[in-house]
Amino acid sequence: MNTAPEEQYTAAPFVPEAVRDIDALREAAAGCRGCPLHRDATQTVFGAGSADARVMLVGEQPGDQEDRKGRPFIGPAGQLLDRALAEAGIDPGEAYVTNAVKHFKFTRAEPRKRRIHKAPGLREMTACGPWLAAELALVEPELIVVLGATAGKALLGSSFRVGEVRGTLLEREIHGHAERLVPTVHPSSVLRADDREGAYEGLVADLKVAARALA
Ligand code: URA
Repeated sequence: MNTAPEEQYTAAPFVPEAVRDIDALREAAAGCRGCPLHRDATQTVFGAGSADARVMLVGEQPGDQEDRKGRPFIGPAGQLLDRALAEAGIDPGEAYVTNAVKHFKFTRAEPRKRRIHKAPGLREMTACGPWLAAELALVEPELIVVLGATAGKALLGSSFRVGEVRGTLLEREIHGHAERLVPTVHPSSVLRADDREGAYEGLVADLKVAARALA
């Protein structure tokens, strides 16, 4: 029996070529249909912050609140992240913040019940990659802070393990550009940790490595 090959999803046809302006990129991303996630999500949640930012923070995907409001990291994980950044000496208002995947992926236990976050798979990460590549090309950050496993796999490949490299300054070529990166845990994992205080201190310690790399 022949099985049909898995459909390849990609945002590439929706990404304008040679765009010089982050707002134009954001506008184009609003109409992205590169993978099926747009069907159930409220809207595309594109990156936010200045295109002149020295540091880019990359998370996983928008959560429930981000999906409703259309901005990344505005829910509980974002609030914790802002506090940790400030404590580490990085002004959150001066960072460019985005996600590896730009639509909220979720399930519902029952129809009309609460939406439950579902981690994006490799296909969705790969499909959304052209948006992250376009953001990197426009913002040209001096440093990328990688927030958790999904962002790490999207930027550094599927063998990425956050526990192996967190809190270290990496230098890697990404989309033909030499990039400096500091990986750390995702702020949501701090919210879920049994030892929340210890996990938070660990996040701040990693972000201090990023702060020193920017000094
Ligand atoms: N978690 C993420 O990875 N990104 C967001 O924008 C919100 C929560």
